[in-house]
Amino acid sequence: MLRSRNSGECVINLPTTRLTDTVVRIGNTSGAEIDKFAEFGLTSEQGEKVDAPLIDECHANFECRLHDDALVDKYNFFIFEVVKAHVAPSPKHPETLHYTGDGVFMVSGKIISRRSLFRPDML
Ligand SMILES: Cc1cc2nc3c(=O)[nH]c(=O)nc-3n(C[C@H](O)[C@H](O)[C@H](O)COP(=O)(O)O)c2cc1C
Repeated sequence: MLRSRNSGECVINLPTTRLTDTVVRIGNTSGAEIDKFAEFGLTSEQGEKVDAPLIDECHANFECRLHDDALVDKYNFFIFEVVKAHVAPSPKHPETLHYTGDGVFMVSGKIISRRSLFRPDML
């Protein structure tokens, strides 16, 4: 995150369960020591708005610019603005990973719709 503070930008890449083992391995290593793209067979793609690379194998990529760093020193809390979003058209509801700690992930589950209950202007 130090790099994000210095450059004022980052890319948030959204992996799916297909990449679970790779996600863990990436998290166990440092880009200061290895080239993570080469080591884990991932494809780097150039962003449109920021210099940080996108991971092609991810379902979605969000190019972000640092909007406010006032809370970084105290809370390590970065407020980014998404300046460009890339989302694969399918699957519509990808199986995503949610880290719950202690080496364990929750996987996104079944899809339920309450569309009929929504006010149209809320959709
Ligand atoms: C599943 C998983 C979740 C992680 N979550 C965090 C986190 O929330 N915050 C954090 O600082 N590091 C977290 N880490 C550790 C970072 O991924 C690790 O410090 C990072 O890969 C170091 O790479 P870098 O030196 O290239 O930045 C996590 C690692 C794993 C495997």
